[in-house]
Amino acid sequence: MKRILITGATGNIGTELVHYLCELDNGSEIIVAVRNVERAKEKFPNLSGLSFRLFDFEEQNSFDTAFKDIDILFLLRPPHISEVDKYFQPLLKSAKNNGIEKVVFLSVQGAEKSKVIPHNRIERLIKSIGFKYIFVRPSYFMQNLTTTLLPELQKNQTITLPSGQAKFNWIDLKNIGEVSAVLIKSFEKHKNKAYEITGTENKNFQEVSEILSETIGSKFNFKSINPISFYFKKRKDGIENGFAIVMTILHFLPRFQKEPEISDNFNKLTGKKPTTLKEFINREKDRITTPQAVY
Ligand SMILES: NC(=O)c1ccc[n+]([C@@H]2O[C@H](COP(=O)([O-])OP(=O)(O)OC[C@H]3O[C@@H](n4cnc5c(N)ncnc54)[C@H](OP(=O)(O)O)[C@@H]3O)[C@@H](O)[C@H]2O)c1
Repeated sequence: MKRILITGATGNIGTELVHYLCELDNGSEIIVAVRNVERAKEKFPNLSGLSFRLFDFEEQNSFDTAFKDIDILFLLRPPHISEVDKYFQPLLKSAKNNGIEKVVFLSVQGAEKSKVIPHNRIERLIKSIGFKYIFVRPSYFMQNLTTTLLPELQKNQTITLPSGQAKFNWIDLKNIGEVSAVLIKSFEKHKNKAYEITGTENKNFQEVSEILSETIGSKFNFKSINPISFYFKKRKDGIENGFAIVMTILHFLPRFQKEPEISDNFNKLTGKKPTTLKEFINREKDRITTPQAVY
């Protein structure tokens, strides 16, 4: 039986991926690699076939046991971990030494072009160590509206970012989870390829605030600020330094870049259409408008 190890399983993408993988691939053992097994078990109460292994990106002595007898590693970079040499080099070496040959890495759209982001270096590391790989390169998550941007949306019905008029391509995490499950299931067919996974809409934040206003029926605003003020605002909000830098770069650099490419990979790989922003906002309306909602 094939064994698939999922890092980041309790996060946004991981949760979706685990559900789709359990649905699609009942011939494999699906193992989640987590730093708190009890908390992870609570996250997946209805998935009885799932296995759990202790694993911590920041504890090198957790690697060997977690990586034993694994066929495919799904690797995700947690947002607060940006130091590739310190964390990913030892991790990938341990994976290789423990006999893992295949890695599916959750990267980001355009990673191959931008040497300043950690995903670029991780992709190169995976290739240079000699893994068979698939790089999943999604565009901008719709769920940023219901995670990092949510407190300000709920409190002031406002989005503040250093992004000016830059357009982002918007993708639903459910679509990323589903497509990642398809790619893992047919690894051999897709090996040593990179797939951009995008939605069908390129929109700037002014346009998105207008879609929010129309769909929800009350006024939402967008405020563009300079990147330095944005960085210090995030630090003041308690965001960890590495994550604040990545957030600033990811929202500021697109001002100087071409609009994102729109890809039909999601449709080709799943036979389905990606979620639209309007569908997403309709689905998540309650969460966006209810400050005390507990999910
Ligand atoms: N936001 C975007 O628009 C966008 C677009 C493209 C790509 N990406 C990339 O997507 C990735 C983030 O994915 P996500 O949103 O699914 O992340 P997320 O929701 O923040 O989840 C992070 C996961 O990593 C786990 N984790 C954190 N620290 C750990 C540690 N020390 N040891 C073991 N596990 C640890 C967390 O587990 P716990 O439950 O233990 O905390 C959680 O499962 C980033 O690499 C980001 O650059 C983001």
